[in-house]
Formats: sequence, structure tokens, C-alpha cells
Amino acid sequence: MNKTWWKEAVVYQIYPRSFMDSDGDGVGDLRGITSRLDYLKELGVDVIWLSPVYQSPNDDNGYDISDYQAIMEEFGTMEDFDEMLAAIHERGMKLVMDLVVNHTSDEHAWFVESRKSKDNPYRDYYMWREGKDGKEPNNWGSCFSGSAWEYDQTTDMYYLHLFSKKQPDLNWDNPKVRAEVFSMMNWWCEKGIDGFRMDVISLISKEPGLPDGVMAPGALYAGCPCANGPRVHEYLQEMNREVLSRFDLMTVGECAGVTIDEAKKYASLDGRELNMVFQFEHVELDNGDFGKWTDRRVSLKDFKETMSRWQTELAGAAWNSLFLGNHDQPRSVSRFGCDAPEYREVCAKMLATCLHMMQGTPYVYQGEELGMTNCPFETVADLRDIESINAYAELTEAGKIAPEDMMRFLRMRSRDNARTPMQWDDSENAGFTKGIPWIMVNPNYVDINAGQERRDPDSVFSYYKKLIALRKQEKVIVYGSYRLLEPEREDLYVYTRTLDAEKLLVVCNFTKEETQYHIPEAYRAGTVLIGNRDRKRLEGEMRLQPYEALVIKIIDESAKETHE
Ligand code: GLC
Repeated sequence: MNKTWWKEAVVYQIYPRSFMDSDGDGVGDLRGITSRLDYLKELGVDVIWLSPVYQSPNDDNGYDISDYQAIMEEFGTMEDFDEMLAAIHERGMKLVMDLVVNHTSDEHAWFVESRKSKDNPYRDYYMWREGKDGKEPNNWGSCFSGSAWEYDQTTDMYYLHLFSKKQPDLNWDNPKVRAEVFSMMNWWCEKGIDGFRMDVISLISKEPGLPDGVMAPGALYAGCPCANGPRVHEYLQEMNREVLSRFDLMTVGECAGVTIDEAKKYASLDGRELNMVFQFEHVELDNGDFGKWTDRRVSLKDFKETMSRWQTELAGAAWNSLFLGNHDQPRSVSRFGCDAPEYREVCAKMLATCLHMMQGTPYVYQGEELGMTNCPFETVADLRDIESINAYAELTEAGKIAPEDMMRFLRMRSRDNARTPMQWDDSENAGFTKGIPWIMVNPNYVDINAGQERRDPDSVFSYYKKLIALRKQEKVIVYGSYRLLEPEREDLYVYTRTLDAEKLLVVCNFTKEETQYHIPEAYRAGTVLIGNRDRKRLEGEMRLQPYEALVIKIIDESAKETHE
């Protein structure tokens, strides 16, 4: 298999609004990030993915961009950006920027022009349509509730917005739009950035004619049928020719609705499009009748089946990205494990082991390395996220979900769980700001914070450091092939990785119960590479502790000989 730096890297995602505030306005900023780079260096990550820092009216916390070549005032200046980038490079790390080009802000100069008149030169930069019988042009719903169409009086037409009405969709079928986007990307690459994470890039090519979508029973609107549209691969190949192939970049496409077959095109190892995709199957298994608004938990069997399918089917064809959390997902330890004080640490370590030993590039979402948890939001007034606030209003007002149930679902699934401030220490506001934080701090910062965890060799942070370092030492973790064992077991996730003579056995107990596991013969003489419980000896018949994880390594001499 071809070796590349981005296959061997570990990525750390920063959500700048919540990472570190340097000037006391309650909002994280670029100087705050620069001041904490040594922390990331200590953790050992190679790449930072920065959620958007561009100028934005913040309807969706920076995912609504009004100027792609300026920095959001609350976050600082372009000089601050340049200093941050230099400081990242000085420490031998790389920077991947968020690229949000399915839509802009309605305050972007292109849209301000576009809405002025039907013959404005920028009109065709966006998706304008006539109404149908005095109503929206089709039945598509916005991902943030309500219709995906907004009526605009100036020209008596509607524009498409798959997200908020302040995020109008760009018209990628217009070659001028593509040329503008590519030239902006080249500008950032020439500045020296190291890659792009491409926001909802699977949605950029819409079906001609924009046909109605299928309505789920009881739904108010149709889900947007825009994923993997007819020209998406053509556009990404063009982007690759015009921008990506000219620099040494890491690229990851956020691909809502991507299937394995599609992923093989987006992230094909021949390098025609992107390096890898984020797929969402494993974080949608616990959805219910109202999509993510539920308190369901995924069964381990389903989780293993999905993860394993992506592991084995992309092998040799495309490259996986590995994640359990990000700024759109609840905290992984609360969702996939258990955040009760007696299990939180061991469980966060178990989940990290399970993910980081797979094939693909792992992503650590800020605070995950501390085992940060979901937040006990009491009322909707504690929330800041447009998706959560709109969904609460729409579903409770329509009588679909009772308010107290919806609050419970939000505590489990709201994106704001991931967006509470980074917990740096046990001082006021967790050391995140000297001002009033823009969103509440999780009250458990007194016990869960970086200050304490950096000093403790048994902390979740120290465990992540070991896991990340192991990936640098053991090529089998990066390049080995994957095989699932014990697919039927509801309590254990067991798999192997194999690269020539080197073999790993990864065993993770996903329950709070002790359980038995019979180690395959070949691994009994192995060594424990890493584990979250104090286990020195390997027995054939092993009694695993609650949430225990361990990785056993062997060198299979017979495989070595055959190979040589
Ligand atoms: C992506 C982002 C999310 C944002 C949406 C619209 O899914 O990750 O945070 O709200 O796109 O840009």
C-alpha cells in the first residue's frame, strides 16, 4: 500500500469558539489557539483541523461565511492567523482549514448582489426558482427545520437553503462559481495551509429540475435528496486539477449520505478526488422516528457490523477517517459508553482504543482526550445551536414530541454538548475565559480538566498520548488489514490487524459487567501493547473487567518465513 503522511497522521479538531479565549470577550479566538499549541504538541497530534474562522454573521457559528478571505472579528485578524499558522508549522504540525462552499452567508457580497434583480451578474451564483401555486418550488425541508426555500420579495422568487435561511446554496452548475471557489482555495494554499475539510461537499450537485423528495410518514417536509448528485465527482475532479493536485494537501470530504460505493469514488486511492471522507452510518444507527431526536442507543452488534463493513470494503480501494465525535455530535463517552463517574475514564480509554487501532486516519475532537461528557442543559434557554433550537420549536409546537421528552433528547443528542468550553483547569469558567462564556461551561470541569489530567499518568489524556505515540511506532496500526472476530457477541468488540508477521488482537468490553473471553491460541504468548486496566499477565481464559480494553501484539514467525 502507498505510504503517505496523512495516512499516518492523527488529526485534532478545534472548534475555535469554544477552545480558548485570549481577550476576555467570552468567545474563543486565534490567539487563544496559539497559546495552547504546546498542549497539542504534548498530546502528539500531527494535524489540526480548524472549524471555520472566516468572517461570518454567525447564524451557524461560522458555517455561514460572508467573506472567505477575511477572519471573523471575534476571532482576531489575518495577522493573528499568520502567526498561528507559523507557530503550528514551527512545532512540526499541519493545519487543515474548513471549506464551506455548498453555501455562503446571505451577507456574502455575491448574495447581496444576487438578490437585487433577476439580471444581476451574480443572480445565477445561487439557486433561484419561481414558486409553485403560490407555495415553495418543491417539498424539500431544511436540515435546520422548516422549508428549504425562502421567499424573497425583491424579485418575487424563492432561493434554496439546505441549512438556515441565512445559508443560501451556491449554484455549482455555474462555472463562474467553481472558478471563484477554486481561486479562493488557491489563495489559502499559497498562504501555506496544509489541507481542507470540506463541509457537506456531497451536497453540491443538485438533481436537475429539483424534483420533490419522498416524504416519510408524519414528516413535515421531505429530506433533501441532494447527496452524491449527478455531477459531484466531475466537480471534485475539476477541483483536484485546478487546486488540490498543485499542493501537498490532506483533504477530507464531509459526505452526508455517502455509501461505500460512493466513498470509493470520493476517496479513491488513485488521488483523482479527495484523500478520505467522513461517513455517517455509525453515528446514525441510534436514530429514531424523528431522526436524531431520540434517546435510543446503538446495539454493539450493529455498531460492529457497520464499522467492520467500512474497514473491510474500503481496504485497498479508498481510505477511512475514524471518528466518534465532532462539533455536530454529542460527546462520545456519553453516547457510546458511560459517563457515570465510576466508569467515565476507563470507558473513554476503551472507546479510544477501539477506534484508534482501526485502519484509517483518527480524529480527536477537542476535549475528547480529557473524556469530556455531555452537558446537563436544563432548558432550551441554555442552548445556542440553531439546529437544536429550531428543532425544539418545530417538534414541540407541532405536538410531535412533548417538551420534557425533547429536552431529554437534546441533552443526549444536541450539537451543543460538544460545544461547551474546553475544560483547561479548575478555575472559574474552566480557565476558558475571563469573561462571560458564550455558552455554559459543563459544571463537571472541577473534576474533568486538562490541568489535572496532564499531571496524572493514569488520566484519559495520558492514555491518548500513549495511543497516539503507538501509531507512530507500529506500522501495523496504520497499514495492517482488519478482521472482525466474535461478530455475534453483544458485549465484546474484538478484531485483529495484520501486517506481514506482525499481528494485533484488540479486545474491548463495551459493558459494565465483567465478562469472559477465550484468547485465540496464537496470541497467548503475546505482549500487551496497551490497555486501560492493570493487566500484566495473559491467560487463555480471560476475565475482562468492566469496559476493559487491551491490545495484544505477536510476531507470527511462520508468516515471516513464508513472506521472506
Ligand atoms: C456541516 C457542519 C455543520 C454545519 C453544516 C452547515 O454539517 O459540520 O456544523 O451546521 O454543515 O454548514
